[in-house]
Amino acid sequence: MKPITILGIESSCDDTSAAILENRAVLSNVIANQEVHEKYGGVVPELASRAHQSNILPVVHQALEIAQKSLSDVDAICYTIGPGLSGSLMVGSSFAKGLSIGSGIPLIEAHHMKAHVLAHLIVDDAQRNPGFPFLCLTVSGGHTQIVQVDSPEEMHVIGKTRDDAAGEAFDKAAKILGLPYPGGPLVDKYAKEGDGNKFVFAKPDIPDLDFSFSGVKTSILYFIRDEVKSDPDFISKNRNDLCASIQATIVDILIVKLRRAIKLTGIKSVAIAGGVSANSGLRAAMLELQHEGCEVFLPKFAYCTDNAAMIAIYGHYQFLDKKFGALNAAPKARYAF
Ligand code: KG4
Ligand code: ZN
Repeated sequence: MKPITILGIESSCDDTSAAILENRAVLSNVIANQEVHEKYGGVVPELASRAHQSNILPVVHQALEIAQKSLSDVDAICYTIGPGLSGSLMVGSSFAKGLSIGSGIPLIEAHHMKAHVLAHLIVDDAQRNPGFPFLCLTVSGGHTQIVQVDSPEEMHVIGKTRDDAAGEAFDKAAKILGLPYPGGPLVDKYAKEGDGNKFVFAKPDIPDLDFSFSGVKTSILYFIRDEVKSDPDFISKNRNDLCASIQATIVDILIVKLRRAIKLTGIKSVAIAGGVSANSGLRAAMLELQHEGCEVFLPKFAYCTDNAAMIAIYGHYQFLDKKFGALNAAPKARYAF
């Protein structure tokens, strides 16, 4: 049987990405990061849309070239319809629609967060694929959820954040330390040289599977403010220990709830997805769950942060179900899971 070839296009936030998948294998996954936001301490939506405009054509072109495919080989174009920044989504959506009209290739709409989860189904030597059902802790800059995945089409959110997302908590804590955006990867880097037990920050006490990170952020802010009053060099002297302690606190909040979800559902196959799944502390804590009888699935780094390979694998399953998109569909900045 002829393999299914999907072109994936991702533009929901500040990464422009295109990928070609042949069945479940990645032939190319090109990502253009936008460094323009660094000096503003966060993503500037207007600048993100403009950068997508400049990047999208070369990125798609390169994805086809690396995969050694032409448009005539592509069975469907799958693009991110939401959730994300409106202006950013609009660029990918309009581009995908134009390409579809011009080439006659059918369109598929991808849910960005579900695509993060389905990244686990990509066949790649660097990652194993979980069977169903599995639990997926989905942790990104905008979302933090525990998802029960019964099949590629059936996913249920059984826990979610009540305020900030885990990635946001990393980024806000990093900002308090004076680190540039996005701070998550830098906290991870400095934490490797630090002591995670050196400083203790407040942890939320929420009974169900929901998360909260706003209290941690306030606790870090007040602690640093008080310490800096008595020693202006406190942050630079303690940077590594501060990062390690912040990371340990956030990871612990996540793992406590995941452990509770495992107990409640009886599902012992567990995975992580989204940008924060690149965090080394979280990956190490996940592997610890193996000692409790869990089977643990960690995504390959390239499929953790935003990428189009995950959009294309989402498209692969939609294609099998013959679920195609419409030319009049508007991007969904908010898109229920
Ligand atoms: O999934 P993603 O690329 O974009 C969204 O859909 O939000 O996630 C981005 C988030 C940012 O908050 C970034 O700081 C965080 O993922 N992140 C990390 C690491 N790598 C990315 N946080 C902690 N440690 C990391 N190594
Ligand atoms: Zn994402």
